[in-house]
Amino acid sequence: MNDTFLRACRGEKTDYTPIWMMRQAGRYLPEYQKVRGNVTFLELCKSPELCVEVTLQPVDLLNMDAAILFSDILIPIEAMGARLEFHEGHGPTFPEKVRSQADVDRLIVPEPDEATDFVMETIRLLRSELKVPLIGFAGAPFTCATYLIEGGSSKVFWETKKMMFTQPILFHKLMDKITQCTILYLLAQARAGAQALQIFDSWAGILAPCDFEHFALPYVQRIIFKLQEETDIPIIYFANNGATLLDMSISSGADVIGLDWRINIGEAVRRVGQKAVQGNLDPFALMLPKEELRERIKGILDGAEGAFGHIFNLGHGIHQFTPPEQARCAVEAVHELSSR
Ligand code: CP3
Repeated sequence: MNDTFLRACRGEKTDYTPIWMMRQAGRYLPEYQKVRGNVTFLELCKSPELCVEVTLQPVDLLNMDAAILFSDILIPIEAMGARLEFHEGHGPTFPEKVRSQADVDRLIVPEPDEATDFVMETIRLLRSELKVPLIGFAGAPFTCATYLIEGGSSKVFWETKKMMFTQPILFHKLMDKITQCTILYLLAQARAGAQALQIFDSWAGILAPCDFEHFALPYVQRIIFKLQEETDIPIIYFANNGATLLDMSISSGADVIGLDWRINIGEAVRRVGQKAVQGNLDPFALMLPKEELRERIKGILDGAEGAFGHIFNLGHGIHQFTPPEQARCAVEAVHELSSR
């Protein structure tokens, strides 16, 4: 068992810096495309055997030091009773947008072992096959709420901010319900065998710091405090576009702070102090010529030298047109350059 990733999360000594990549299982891999060619994305998410297959692909092909469960942050949200659709090339949509008290009341807090049994089954199957740690995950309540309120992806988040500012009580009720659901969902993943849990806050960066502190952070803290009460596995919090929210991300209570690429890692390490960091290569830097890519990686490794712990990662998900060979080179470079 290669436990380098878990050791780095806990700030223990490692032989080298472990690496995995956000969205490492996905469309940039021809092997994923092949599996996906026969099923829709949602069918794939609900077929444990296929989820196991695509979770293992980047670990086997690219030599990653951790696996991340193949699923989506919107799967537990669908289980709350929100009809979810993925249309080719369009991303997720919730046709029945959540905008009123009645809409919020209609959402349920499901029992995750029943409503998302396929996720728990995937985790159990993966644990019997994997030789690296398995990361489970969920979306942060704010990020999940934006999809429900907007009815899908958004650029300006008009409806989300309108609800926040004109119906704050309703907004908090929705956040509370998603939070209850997320706590149960992540605890179920831990019971099924997840060895670390990451909370993805992809849209946190659209908020003013005061609004993040008031409308989003308390719910992340509640999830993390509850998880830490019930389990001792590392919790990673990743706020995309979160450089200006770093001090508040630290106060989330997470064991590992995810970093995007918009912040210098040396500066982040100094501010984070006695917690591990994860990141922070610009996903598009994977397009650099190999020598320059190595230099870029070395810069990040050097910047993170004094870190309590460092898990190498991209600053956000790998882009779908990235040549897998470039990702493989990055993994090799991290392993070589950080070897102690
Ligand atoms: O990281 C992994 O390899 C595990 C799998 C994973 C997926 N989505 C698979 C996926 C994870 C961890 C996610 C998280 C997720 N999903 C986030 C947070 C991370 C981030 O990128 O900010 C968000 C915001 C979503 C919601 C979502 N799912 C969107 C916006 C989209 C469409 C945009 C896109 O990138 O295609 C998805 C679809 C999705 N989720 C795909 C995959 C592999 C592509 C689906 C396909 O095969 O067509």
